[in-house]
Amino acid sequence: MRWTLATALLGLASASPVRKRDTVTAQVNFSNNTGTPEHLASGILYGVPDTLNQIPSHFYENIGYNYERAGGAQVASPGLGWIWGLTEYKNRFKSVLSNYETAREYDATFILLIHDLWGADGTQNSSAPYPGDDGDWTSWDEYLAQLFSDLKANDMTTALVVDLWNEPDSTTFWNRDQTQYLQCWGRTYYKFRDEFGTAVELSGPASAGEPLSDNTWWGAWASFVASNDSIPDQYAWHMESGTGDLLSAQAGLIYWREKYSLPAKLININEYAIYTEQVPAGSAWWISQLERIDAHGLRGNWLSGTDLHNYLASLLGTTDSVYHPNGDYQVYKYYHQNMTGYRVGTLPSTDLKLDAYATVGSDYARVLVGVRVDEGTWELELNDLPSLGLAESGSLDIHTYGFPVASDVHYGEVDGPTDLGWVEHTYSGGSVTFPVYQTDETTAYVFEFAV
Ligand SMILES: *[C@@H]1O[C@H](CO)[C@@H](O)[C@H](O)[C@H]1NC(C)=O
Ligand SMILES: *[C@@H]1O[C@H](CO)[C@@H](O)[C@H](O)[C@H]1NC(C)=O
Ligand SMILES: *[C@@H]1O[C@H](CO)[C@@H](O)[C@H](O)[C@H]1NC(C)=O
Ligand SMILES: *[C@@H]1O[C@H](CO)[C@@H](O)[C@H](O)[C@H]1NC(C)=O
Ligand SMILES: *[C@@H]1O[C@H](CO)[C@@H](O)[C@H](O)[C@H]1NC(C)=O
Repeated sequence: MRWTLATALLGLASASPVRKRDTVTAQVNFSNNTGTPEHLASGILYGVPDTLNQIPSHFYENIGYNYERAGGAQVASPGLGWIWGLTEYKNRFKSVLSNYETAREYDATFILLIHDLWGADGTQNSSAPYPGDDGDWTSWDEYLAQLFSDLKANDMTTALVVDLWNEPDSTTFWNRDQTQYLQCWGRTYYKFRDEFGTAVELSGPASAGEPLSDNTWWGAWASFVASNDSIPDQYAWHMESGTGDLLSAQAGLIYWREKYSLPAKLININEYAIYTEQVPAGSAWWISQLERIDAHGLRGNWLSGTDLHNYLASLLGTTDSVYHPNGDYQVYKYYHQNMTGYRVGTLPSTDLKLDAYATVGSDYARVLVGVRVDEGTWELELNDLPSLGLAESGSLDIHTYGFPVASDVHYGEVDGPTDLGWVEHTYSGGSVTFPVYQTDETTAYVFEFAV
């Protein structure tokens, strides 16, 4: 037994010439330029009031708001959607049109949720009809004809993406079998293409589950869209379980793509993060995950009723009806306004708790780090410093900012990061490593140094 173990260890050592990462260290590789920042994580699910300009414009502009996803969910009667009649549909459509106009005002792309406009927004009762019930598509076809006419009449086809259904793998939104869903997908895909060509992008499956290789629901979807030749322009799914990570999910997508010869397309995680992750540390973690795989991301929304259509998906609060930013908002503001220049590659700690997003600007290199809602001590390793024009060894002055939350975590006002001062680090071998002390589950940190 001893002999076997020793041989195995030897084999492992010789097979990995690169130094093995330990569980607690995240890395930045400053010589790995990964392109221009587009703040890919600055999208939101709902979060926009139905009254135009209710939230002052600087709140959208300062975070580089670039993606909106809505379909009139949870608008009260008379706005319950198509399955309750034409008037209920028309009032729900008004909410959609208003949200679309807000998105266009800031050049944000709009993802239309046709399941919500139909009325299957999660609050529908158990006798709610679904497209194609008992093989009858009449109501669904009439609904799409009405929708197409309204999209055209209101000039809504610019920067429009249509999600062909939301979370069809969850009974909350699709309380029928997968076969009926796939028929709905194929039918609806071709109706949109026939009407709008490729001017309107199609997206899906916007599943609750990740495309992991053991997810047979995803396998059946991938097989169908390949044989039906109804491949969407964006692969979309949700990351809202509090577990999972994007390198694994992306590997799963590649597995299904290769199995059914599907092409690469833009990835859009059009709902990301659970409510407890919607704090500076969690947001920094998600930003790092999304940027690494070049995926767009839209913050999930855990508010309901009229609050669903407000607060930019938990980035704002109000005092006497006057809006203020919360702590999480400040992360997105820094991410958009300060993390300019070019991005560089990073790796999370192997326990996947600490992750980092880094950019190099004309004045400073900047690293945003976040722990996925946990406490402890992790380490950050900054590699290839000479690629920034710094010496192979010497001392490096690093400026730290903390991004805290208010005592009212999701609604309390925070007006900016906290300046935690400068620390001098001596380093050698072109690399510096220092600890990240995570003494609460919410604070994100930024480390900056002059280049
Ligand atoms: C860092 O990135 C550079 C350039 O892409 C690459 O050559 C090098 O192998 C990377 N270093 C590590 C440790 O991955
Ligand atoms: C259930 O919802 C449908 C619309 O989907 C509606 O026509 C029906 O009246 C509702 N039933 C009850 C008991 O509310
Ligand atoms: C795709 O699926 C839909 C729904 O079943 C069907 O109507 C359509 O004919 C299919 N198209 C192709 C090219 O297979
Ligand atoms: C971020 O950039 C803005 C605009 O240039 C600047 O006013 C602000 O001080 C910067 N914030 C930090 C924390 O460096
Ligand atoms: C550079 O970083 C990207 C994104 O993190 C990563 O996919 C790629 O493998 C890295 N390249 C090298 C050579 O390390």
